[in-house]
Amino acid sequence: MANSSEHIFVIFGASGDLTKRKLIPAIYSLYVQKLLPENFALIGVSRTALNDESFRSKMKTALGEFNEIGDKSFEDKFLQNVFYQSINTENADDFPILKNRIEEIRKELNIGGNIIFYLSTPPNMYGIIPQNLAKHKLNDESDGWKRLIIEKPFGYDLESAEKLRDEIMANWNENQIYRIDHYLGKETVQNLLVTRFSNGIFEPLWNRNFIHHVEVTSAESIGVEGRGGYYESSGALRDMIQNHLLQVVSLVAMEPPSSLEPESIRNEILKVIQSFRSIDKNDVRNVAIRGQYISSKIKGESIIGYRDEDGVAQNSMTETYAALKFYIDNWRWGGIPFYIRTGKRLPTRVTEVVIHFKHTPHFLFKKNGAPNSHNQLVIRIQPDEGILLKFGMKIPGQGFDVQTVNMDFHYSDLSVGRIPTAYERLIHDAMKGDSTLFARTEEVMGLWKFLTPVIEAWKDEKDIPLYGYPAGTWGPERADDLIDDPNMTWRYPCKNLTDDVLYCEL
Ligand SMILES: NC(=O)c1ccc[n+]([C@@H]2O[C@H](COP(=O)([O-])OP(=O)(O)OC[C@H]3O[C@@H](n4cnc5c(N)ncnc54)[C@H](OP(=O)(O)O)[C@@H]3O)[C@@H](O)[C@H]2O)c1
Repeated sequence: MANSSEHIFVIFGASGDLTKRKLIPAIYSLYVQKLLPENFALIGVSRTALNDESFRSKMKTALGEFNEIGDKSFEDKFLQNVFYQSINTENADDFPILKNRIEEIRKELNIGGNIIFYLSTPPNMYGIIPQNLAKHKLNDESDGWKRLIIEKPFGYDLESAEKLRDEIMANWNENQIYRIDHYLGKETVQNLLVTRFSNGIFEPLWNRNFIHHVEVTSAESIGVEGRGGYYESSGALRDMIQNHLLQVVSLVAMEPPSSLEPESIRNEILKVIQSFRSIDKNDVRNVAIRGQYISSKIKGESIIGYRDEDGVAQNSMTETYAALKFYIDNWRWGGIPFYIRTGKRLPTRVTEVVIHFKHTPHFLFKKNGAPNSHNQLVIRIQPDEGILLKFGMKIPGQGFDVQTVNMDFHYSDLSVGRIPTAYERLIHDAMKGDSTLFARTEEVMGLWKFLTPVIEAWKDEKDIPLYGYPAGTWGPERADDLIDDPNMTWRYPCKNLTDDVLYCEL
């Protein structure tokens, strides 16, 4: 029987982009910090014909480019425990080759029966690999735990996600499955829980009585970066909203968990998702806005439109921008709108949550030019991570003129060292068996179910507009109309947390 932490870490998709850019650098960082068990081996698996030496050399080059932790002195020692096995994962008959290789390495390095299988292949293999592993008893926990880490996307819609669920769960238990949502691995997303539940001052205000609406923005300034083929099968709704942004909303909206046990937190997250008010397919045109970037000039540089990107169809209807208004039907949030938006080729890269508080019941200072402002709490997830509170202050001098001012805290002031990457955090959690930051099956299905009317309406109802927006702007103007209150707009965030003007210096 294995000791509790030693294990073999198998990466399916080892010759791919994610392995070299994120997975190997994250695991190396864990090694440098002595967070890997002493008895540990990593086996890369894909079809490309490589041997241990050539794979190590490729990974050494990857670490040269993507080393997150800086310290290079442990690279060679780390790579001694890295191996490679070529198989075709679609072919069940290839799995005995992998099984034998695992056995061999286990014996050589005196590692027990614990194994993590990381699925970083094209998503159409997320069903077949667990099935083939099970066929060869590589899911059998009698000699040690076996875990699956599964990359996104988990399905393309509710139907495909349910099919995938059934294929995997036929042979694997929920507690063996770790679905990666790398947003949940971000320190600042976890800090949402700490901000909410370690401070007495926020929780009493965190409800429908004091909050006017909640806004979540995740903007990217880049386009599809040569991954047009992949993006064509995804789009902003599936790529960002179905997983990352709705998970962030769940953390903002959940009830306090009874403890920090994974199931306690995940139960509260699930309850929120189950309370999302169903969207009527006939109402999709009023509550969901889609857009696609078109060519423009940014700082004098010509930027091509989405339809001119490699791998993208000239008549593509894939949205590169999506905005959504919805409600959470429970006692805390009844009647309070949530607005979320995401897009590519927006003015800057930023992800943040904005809690807009209700205004005072009486505008005492209105005559004195007080802005009709509401207090805002901005929780910045990236970049310039931190928290900003906006409130009114008297302008010094005669009378009672009021100005909105900022009180800001930057996360960098707190950190004594580097902030671990999301992959580092999540891989380490999976190694420890801590599933708190991984999405449970019911959560994923709940999120697909919630978005199904939007997915279907955007596919079936050809007259729902796909608005073109010039690259470098904040997306379709029509998205402003989602916000009910005519005196309010989205916040226009800049790279710096404390700036918010329509056209900031980027
Ligand atoms: N890249 C990212 O930043 C990123 C971010 C989030 C999520 N993801 C997800 O992570 C997964 C991997 O992404 P990626 O960018 O690394 O993709 P990728 O570069 O296309 O790599 C895919 C990997 O799968 C292997 N593979 C494909 N068919 C195989 C087969 N039949 N048998 C064995 N191996 C096979 C490929 O190797 P061979 O061709 O050598 O077999 C390659 O190593 C995708 O599902 C993606 O959605 C990626």
